[in-house]
Amino acid sequence: MENGSQTEPVAENPSRRGFVNAVIYALGAVMGAALAIPAARYLFLPPKTRKQQAWVEAGDVSRLAIDAPQEMTFRRIHADGWKIYSEKGTAWVVKFPDDKVVAYSPICTHLGCAYHWDAENSEFLCPCHGSTFALDGRVLSGPAPRPLDRYEIKIENARLWLGPVHQSGETSS
Ligand code: FES
Repeated sequence: MENGSQTEPVAENPSRRGFVNAVIYALGAVMGAALAIPAARYLFLPPKTRKQQAWVEAGDVSRLAIDAPQEMTFRRIHADGWKIYSEKGTAWVVKFPDDKVVAYSPICTHLGCAYHWDAENSEFLCPCHGSTFALDGRVLSGPAPRPLDRYEIKIENARLWLGPVHQSGETSS
């Protein structure tokens, strides 16, 4: 006579085992993607949150002397993700006899040195390789390939606001 309390091993259903394995692999793939996608975005995509202040105030233009360039300084705020920092910048600002104001980038268009106003010779002089520029930014001499680059500007209540720098398109011959 057989003992009724004995249990016999139950044969595992192969299709059920396959389904459980598939679910485990699918969950592993989802978890792997959840970890890999943000890591890949961090490594390979440029940060979208890097921003800089579009316009910065550089100072009062009402007291600028005609045809006498003045270097104006300003601070531009940058946001890089959660980090916010300010960076000092400068512009060479010229007021012409018709009251038109121009702001030049302080970077020489040859290899990027800082130039200065040479009042004695009435020209901008870059000491690195001797490029000189006229009051209107034209190249007078030296290896500089194009006139001085200019800031986009706007003037509100005699305050000068500087936008982005636009590269001068002309080339000297
Ligand atoms: S960097 Fe100004 S002349 Fe070369």
